[in-house]
Amino acid sequence: MRSIRDVEMGGSRVLMRCDFNVPLDKEGGVTDDFRIRSTLPTIEYILGKKGKLVLMTHLGDPDGKPTKSLQVKSIREKLAELLDTPVQSAPDCVGKTIEESTRTMKQGDVLLLENLRFHKEEQKNDKKFAKQLAVLGDIYVNDAFSVCHRSHASVVGVPLLLPAYAGFFLELELQGLERLLVNPAHPVVAVIGGKKIESKLPVIDRISRTADAVLLGNILANEAKSKKVKFKNSSKIFMPLDGIPCQGLPAQAGKEFDIGPKTKALYVKILKNAKTVFWAGPLGKYEDARYEEGSLAVAKAIIRSNAYSIAGGGNLLAFLGKHRLREKFSHLSTGGSAMLEFLSGKKLPGLEAL
Ligand code: 3PG
Repeated sequence: MRSIRDVEMGGSRVLMRCDFNVPLDKEGGVTDDFRIRSTLPTIEYILGKKGKLVLMTHLGDPDGKPTKSLQVKSIREKLAELLDTPVQSAPDCVGKTIEESTRTMKQGDVLLLENLRFHKEEQKNDKKFAKQLAVLGDIYVNDAFSVCHRSHASVVGVPLLLPAYAGFFLELELQGLERLLVNPAHPVVAVIGGKKIESKLPVIDRISRTADAVLLGNILANEAKSKKVKFKNSSKIFMPLDGIPCQGLPAQAGKEFDIGPKTKALYVKILKNAKTVFWAGPLGKYEDARYEEGSLAVAKAIIRSNAYSIAGGGNLLAFLGKHRLREKFSHLSTGGSAMLEFLSGKKLPGLEAL
């Protein structure tokens, strides 16, 4: 994979795929700018090398139709604020007018294209659409690891049409995750929460090959039990010993919303000696403060262990952000599904294209 370090870009139009798919409040304001901040080193490097930067992103799922609430306006404002430089707007992400504006850009200019998913052709990886995007740049940069599992035009179509490079943030994501797969320091402990056991099973099976212990959250473990899921390395899998029932309802097996005290003590003990920790997904119904104690205890145990720690996925990053614990982890992966697919050993189309 070629890095942007390898390219002379003075005066070139750099068409860069970002993942600015960030949470917005009711007024459309950005509530968490972590994904935007993460691409700043690449953006600043390109501007420092006198590139003309054309940024593209998707936002939410507008189903191929222009949707006012999913326009990139507030992202553009946030980016301009963080860069302390104006960011030009575009009424669309393809078309003659947009192409014309990229041709009149000056060195150091930044333009943010409108939401890619306002065109259904983006998600269909339509060849013509990819060409319409490719004419907006002279070189292509992907700094969006979190969309690399998608075979979309801006992720796999455009890099076939332009010289393509990896951005710094994408490289950082890969280096962080590879440290877990290649010669990690032992003991390696994985903590897997969230829900949807089907989507987590491949990563549990792959990680349990190298990990010494894999600790599951209640919701996931209950799903695994009720669906009679068979784990490949079952001796390394730890299921919760007890749980916190949904308050206001009688205790009911299979309906716990957080790990209970016995499980908390066991998980904290296992994490104490860990040298490498991977954590995906909060352990319980974290969005309700009554059920966040388990995840908090685990977060603090990981931090105390001084292990090389990777935390990933939107919900977990939101939870850690709320408790101001993010910066205590060695690596934060912004990719939920992309991260799980990568760690399961799947080839990500966006990385293959690069
Ligand atoms: C994400 O939020 O995980 C990425 O932006 C990908 O979004 P998607 O699941 O809508 O493709």
